Amino acid sequence: MNILIIGSGGREHALAWKMKQSPLCTNLTIAPGNAGTELVGNNVDIQPNDFVGLANFCLQNDVNMVVVGPEEPLVNGIYDYFTSNTTLAHIQIIGPSKDAAQLEGSKAFAKNFLIRNNIPTAAYKEFTIVNYAEGIAYIKTHTLPIVLKADGLAAGKGVVICTNHIEALAEFELMIQQSKFGDAGKKVVIEEFLTGIELSIFVLTDGKNFLLLPEAKDYKRIGESDKGANTGGMGAISPVPFATDAFMKKIVDKVVQPTINGLQKAQLTYKGVIFIGIIKVHDEPYVIEYNCRFGDPETEVILPRVENDLVEIFNAISTGTLHTITINTNPLAAATVVAVSGGYPNEFQKGKVIDGLLGNDLEGTIVFHAGTAHKNGQVVTNGGRVLAVTSLCDDIIGAAQQSNYMLEQLFFDEMYYRTDIGFEFNEA
Ligand code: AMP
Ligand code: GLY
Repeated sequence: MNILIIGSGGREHALAWKMKQSPLCTNLTIAPGNAGTELVGNNVDIQPNDFVGLANFCLQNDVNMVVVGPEEPLVNGIYDYFTSNTTLAHIQIIGPSKDAAQLEGSKAFAKNFLIRNNIPTAAYKEFTIVNYAEGIAYIKTHTLPIVLKADGLAAGKGVVICTNHIEALAEFELMIQQSKFGDAGKKVVIEEFLTGIELSIFVLTDGKNFLLLPEAKDYKRIGESDKGANTGGMGAISPVPFATDAFMKKIVDKVVQPTINGLQKAQLTYKGVIFIGIIKVHDEPYVIEYNCRFGDPETEVILPRVENDLVEIFNAISTGTLHTITINTNPLAAATVVAVSGGYPNEFQKGKVIDGLLGNDLEGTIVFHAGTAHKNGQVVTNGGRVLAVTSLCDDIIGAAQQSNYMLEQLFFDEMYYRTDIGFEFNEA
């Protein structure tokens, strides 16, 4: 098969790395990719939202399968664009339809879906300029902390947790009156704060059948011991020790199955992965959010643990035969540690030469590229998150230590990474 992966992060390098291992994969192209995806396939300089450019590439290169990494093209309707165009309809496209992608594209849509399907989630209300005054009154009497969420996509920045009412009122005003998040914040979801530990669940579905990939835990804060600003993700681990069989069964019964049923009931076409952000509150799962794509950096820890042929899985998703597949998981633990540019998640510089990528292979360790590019024959930084180094080991701490060891062999100016990924599971 000729396969096209859309995106340019660590997630797409991990997808490319995994799909390239399939005997079903003949040609692999990544649009636009990074310096790492070039090691396993060919990059083509087409942006994820350029549907016309992507479609032309697919037709000219006889592409059979398209795997969409980031949420934006999905929310913008790339699935519908391909499936409704007669010249493209033969191409398997892995992802939800535009309507189903609203599970990520609109927090109000997701909350409504959750409540309608009796799936546990935080209590909420939604507000716009029309019921702005009601929103102010709602905030003033709400318990603290209080969570404000811009309805639309806001590059991971649209969730604000406020510990006092004044801050919440100011944030509400900024979102609705001052368009802090542009159109994405014209509608605001205000919800109850839940206290617990978080878990990322990845559900593959062909619209009828579903399968769970290994679970993961993401480390979102920039600083050690989970301190400091929120980021796209500084590391991840899999498996997650508190995701016991009993807890996973609750997740399947109370969240996953009702989600699949809800999609069917609402006739929302979904052939892809549903990433469910779960929070465990008093041993019960609550849904924090839905995403309509793979997570980053979660993909970098879960795919190295999946022993199946990923192309075969995607093929089954496309043909509605996911029930014929069983996921085989490597029992080893995986940890990924993300190296970021100095200053991230705020301002940072690009174009810094990365040293040590050649000749530092370590068994059980994979260096996934995120924000990297080729320049004058060298690999340079090209984003906030630069590398995601994954290791497999008998336990989480061993895997994280091995990734740290690898990162000690790599260098770029102002490189930073957390040395404590998995810290809370250190039993020593
Ligand atoms: P999101 O942008 O939806 O991924 O949310 C970012 C983060 O905000 C989540 O990963 C949680 O850590 C936190 N968060 C979102 N909603 C809640 C909530 N209702 N209670 C507690 N934390 C939340
Ligand atoms: N790691 C969180 C995300 O991909 O949204």
